[in-house]
Amino acid sequence: MSAPGGGDRLAGRTAVVVGAGQTPGPRIGNGRATAITFAAHGARLLLVDRDEARALDTATAAADAAAAAGHDLPEPVVVVTDIASAEGPERVVAAAVDRMGGFDILHNNVGIGAGDAPPHRLSDDDYDRILDVNLRAMWRTCRAAVPVLRAQERSAIVNVSSLASIAAATNLTAYKISKAGVNALTQNLALTGARHGMRANAVLPGLIDTPMGVDQAAELMGVDRDEYAELRAGMVPLGHQGSAWDVARAALFLASDDAAFITGVCLPVDGGQSARIG
Ligand SMILES: NC(=O)c1ccc[n+]([C@@H]2O[C@H](COP(=O)([O-])OP(=O)(O)OC[C@H]3O[C@@H](n4cnc5c(N)ncnc54)[C@H](O)[C@@H]3O)[C@@H](O)[C@H]2O)c1
Repeated sequence: MSAPGGGDRLAGRTAVVVGAGQTPGPRIGNGRATAITFAAHGARLLLVDRDEARALDTATAAADAAAAAGHDLPEPVVVVTDIASAEGPERVVAAAVDRMGGFDILHNNVGIGAGDAPPHRLSDDDYDRILDVNLRAMWRTCRAAVPVLRAQERSAIVNVSSLASIAAATNLTAYKISKAGVNALTQNLALTGARHGMRANAVLPGLIDTPMGVDQAAELMGVDRDEYAELRAGMVPLGHQGSAWDVARAALFLASDDAAFITGVCLPVDGGQSARIG
């Protein structure tokens, strides 16, 4: 699926996208695709990543997409921070308040899996590192953002989870646990935020053809990229992997008023894989 065209589904909204850079590789990643899609639909952006150059590239692409769609928006603000650091989440929220006057959409895209293993081979250090980045940092970011989001008339959090949170993923113990935690966090945010006009939903990407999903994984396993991509495609009922644009479209839907009556949902974007679970 290619980049979506522009529109006005987020016109007048301000979005913070955490993990808005890009894992290097031949295909676009989920964070950058989502930032571009939000901008093409009129959202002002604050982009967060630990990698400045990649975040700045996303900012340029998002500004181009906004202009091409006819939106007259200020350049995206870029905040460079490790979101898993002690000060990361508060820095992001303070920057959004100081430089953009607040925000009404929070999109949490950061997730890592390298170093993971089956339960009997996973080290303490790898478990802690993956849980810290995927779950603890996301919870702390939400905690910092909630007072700002609740002060808006309506607001939305979109957390990027994974199909691994509900499907078999025996080699990915820490990743699976962390993403199951993301689903639980999202449901608690939804229920505690509902009376304040704040919605919270999770996207569960399945097999998506991104550099982290395919290139990095193939390299770690020492297999050919294209063969690995083909193997993944064969596991999907629709017969092909998804692209980051599929994930971005789902995030756009959940962030926008099209999903005004949807909260606490964990939405698989997986070409049908979760239907096999029942
Ligand atoms: N690709 C897939 O097949 C797939 C499947 C299921 C879920 N996901 C999830 O999608 C999300 C994005 O994956 P992607 O493969 O598209 O990656 P991506 O290309 O969107 O890259 C993630 C970005 O996060 C940044 N980042 C990582 N750790 C950070 C930290 N501590 N602080 C700040 N920034 C940090 C990286 O620099 C990078 O720019 C992740 O949460 C991942 O778990 C991906």
